[in-house]
Amino acid sequence: MTDGRVNGLRGAVAMVTGTGSGIGEETSYALAAAGARLVVTELPDRLDRAEATAAAIRERHAGEAVAIPLDVTDLDSVAACVEAASAAFGGRIDVLVNNAGLNVPQMAFDVTEEAWDRVLDVNLKGLFFMAQAIGRRMRDQRPAGGSIVNIASQMGIVGYTKRAAYCSSKAGAVNLSRVLAFEWAEHNIRVNAVCPTFVETPLTRPMFEDPEFKADVLRRIPLGRLATPADVADAVVYLAGPGAAMVTGHALLVDGGWTAV
Ligand SMILES: NC(=O)c1ccc[n+]([C@@H]2O[C@H](COP(=O)([O-])OP(=O)(O)OC[C@H]3O[C@@H](n4cnc5c(N)ncnc54)[C@H](O)[C@@H]3O)[C@@H](O)[C@H]2O)c1
Repeated sequence: MTDGRVNGLRGAVAMVTGTGSGIGEETSYALAAAGARLVVTELPDRLDRAEATAAAIRERHAGEAVAIPLDVTDLDSVAACVEAASAAFGGRIDVLVNNAGLNVPQMAFDVTEEAWDRVLDVNLKGLFFMAQAIGRRMRDQRPAGGSIVNIASQMGIVGYTKRAAYCSSKAGAVNLSRVLAFEWAEHNIRVNAVCPTFVETPLTRPMFEDPEFKADVLRRIPLGRLATPADVADAVVYLAGPGAAMVTGHALLVDGGWTAV
């Protein structure tokens, strides 16, 4: 992160989904370091993980953070979470990071309806209804506006094996970001997507136990390494903050060059 942008989100209220581990946890720390007050959310049965993230923000960044339960596939849970988040810091929500996501790796011939629905429900439907609920708040608050950053994936741009449902969901997230950017620009709401390559997190760690898979992934990344959660978090902070005031409807690849060759 460049010095000029540190604290660029001073006082802003930022909400992040899926903050108990991986990219969501790291992104919460990065937003706090940039000055934001954090609403960190997590599945109800993993709320202790978000509470640990909130405690780390308070201790390490001398920041403000509250943890709220959220299942993005449950519209009642979305509504309750948005209410609680609005109440937490006086009503405003300036930033939403739609990070919650999962993958069920299966060859296309073997994809089950249950797995397809699960992946699409969290990665695309959940992402949309979170954006809709927070977008309405951003539209109605005064001054109106905000920034929504959707964590998509390079798999929203390219295909890869065992990812029929996942790639479909992430391609949907990329193009949905463009639609929302178009519709909501008049309310001063920017909507962008971040498209990371593989990052070692609890989501992918079991996959990287297969050395052939890891070698195939690294061979495709010209920069020669996996992305880190911090690489992704820096891109989110940029898109969320004032440095990206003229950027909307963009899909920012953080892929070490995977899609360039
Ligand atoms: N790890 C990678 O290689 C990689 C690459 C590109 C994009 N991504 C995307 O980044 C995001 C974060 O992934 P990660 O790698 O940090 O994985 P992760 O498993 O560490 O984090 C995902 C988080 O989402 C939460 N979550 C799952 N279902 C939810 C639901 N229904 N409601 C609310 N929260 C829910 C989980 O509890 C978890 O905290 C995902 O959208 C993922 O698709 C990951």
